[in-house]
Amino acid sequence: MIFDILTLFPEMLRSPLEGSILGKARKEGLIEVNLINIRDYAEGKHRVTDDYPYGGGKGMIMKPEPIIKGVKLIKSVDPAAWVILMTPQGMPFKQEVAKRLAQLSHLVLICGRYEGVDERVRDFVNEEISIGDYVLTGGELAALVLIDVVSRLIPGVLGAEGAPDDDSFSQGLLEYPQYTRPKEYEGRRVPEVLLSGNHQAIERWRRKEALRRTWQRRPDLLAKAGLSEEDMEILAELKRSSKAD
Ligand code: ADE
Repeated sequence: MIFDILTLFPEMLRSPLEGSILGKARKEGLIEVNLINIRDYAEGKHRVTDDYPYGGGKGMIMKPEPIIKGVKLIKSVDPAAWVILMTPQGMPFKQEVAKRLAQLSHLVLICGRYEGVDERVRDFVNEEISIGDYVLTGGELAALVLIDVVSRLIPGVLGAEGAPDDDSFSQGLLEYPQYTRPKEYEGRRVPEVLLSGNHQAIERWRRKEALRRTWQRRPDLLAKAGLSEEDMEILAELKRSSKAD
């Protein structure tokens, strides 16, 4: 997977992409990340990338030409490159969106800054994505989030022990509680079933706890989770016993 990031602040992205799992995935050639400075495509002695908004108003708007020039250049080499504008006006970024994007071979992420980008840039993008209902100072952190989430879905990136299928959201539910040693910490014991070696019982317990957690914290997810009849029974039982408490 190739990620090309069009940004005015490549330095802001460099170090998070070097460390840990993403850095390793880059070294192993599982992902390629190119930081492209939009300023390199700006014209004139001063390579201006922003300007005042027509019609007045506060703030600066990113000029269309340097961004579109960058996009066109990338597309001329790889017409399949999929162009995404990071903006709070985009579609919400969800695990299912990440799964779809992980199937593609080449993503181009445009990081807007200041008060936004010239509207005409939108004619050159395939989709617009927001990472949440808040406004960042620019699209750079949003691009990092997207790269992180998509990369860990690419086979090999998490290594043999990685298990993206069990993650929160990947099955439409939040993940069940996890424990490691010690068995007891300041009187808090690990649930007995996890020590039992009974894999069926452990699976049942995990499903139930994932359902409980989702119901308690994100009941909005349950409607879309594709629950089985057994899941529905477990949920009904959870609700009954919480009423009895
Ligand atoms: N740029 C500024 N805020 C953003 C957000 N919430 N998501 C994506 N890009 C952004």
